[in-house]
Amino acid sequence: MKTIAIDGPAAAGKGTLSRRIAEDYGFHHLDTGLTYRATAKALIDRGLPLDDEAVAAEVARTLDLGGLDRAVLSAHDIGEAASKIAVMPTVRRALVEAQRGFAAREPGTVLDGRDIGTVVCPDAAVKLYVTASPEVRARRRYDEIVGNGGVADFETILDDIRRRDERDMGRADSPLKPADDAHLLDTSEMGIEAAFSAAKSIIDAALKH
Ligand code: C5P
Repeated sequence: MKTIAIDGPAAAGKGTLSRRIAEDYGFHHLDTGLTYRATAKALIDRGLPLDDEAVAAEVARTLDLGGLDRAVLSAHDIGEAASKIAVMPTVRRALVEAQRGFAAREPGTVLDGRDIGTVVCPDAAVKLYVTASPEVRARRRYDEIVGNGGVADFETILDDIRRRDERDMGRADSPLKPADDAHLLDTSEMGIEAAFSAAKSIIDAALKH
């Protein structure tokens, strides 16, 4: 069993990249952000508070990894709510346990998130840290929303991305940072194809050992 760990900040393109990589290697893929998002959405749907750790942890413990719907969970407000409950250690412990169970699947797995290489799968066969400047990430998010016929304001998106980075990098439990042995991939100047081939070269080399 081999695990590919992919971490990075919001809107760095790691989701698209991870799906492509999983498909290419025939591995199972888990976007761990969805586990935080699904927990937050379950709280909101049940009218439960987002600031009660014991309640959030109980919901996290009963989460079904089979029922994660990206289309529903990708809403902006759910991302904000997710990053609030993601600071709670007991919520993280419950979700990390489920993520580790997923990581053990054969023939191999790709997990993407914020703490995969540092906490969830420190022994991953290969670790990538995918990043891009806040402006580039905000531009991609903006283009995606407008491309889907939505309305967006660039400055608001940029502010949100900076705030999310601060929250994810500044929290005490499992802050977002590259693992010591992660390969850095800055996609600021790359399209998805270039990012995919750069990632594939790194992974091929690492899996050979
Ligand atoms: O990646 P995505 O935007 O879906 O993640 C939503 C939030 O969930 C992030 O802002 C982060 O706070 C949290 N998260 C986390 N650890 C992960 C994945 C996501 O803390 N492994």
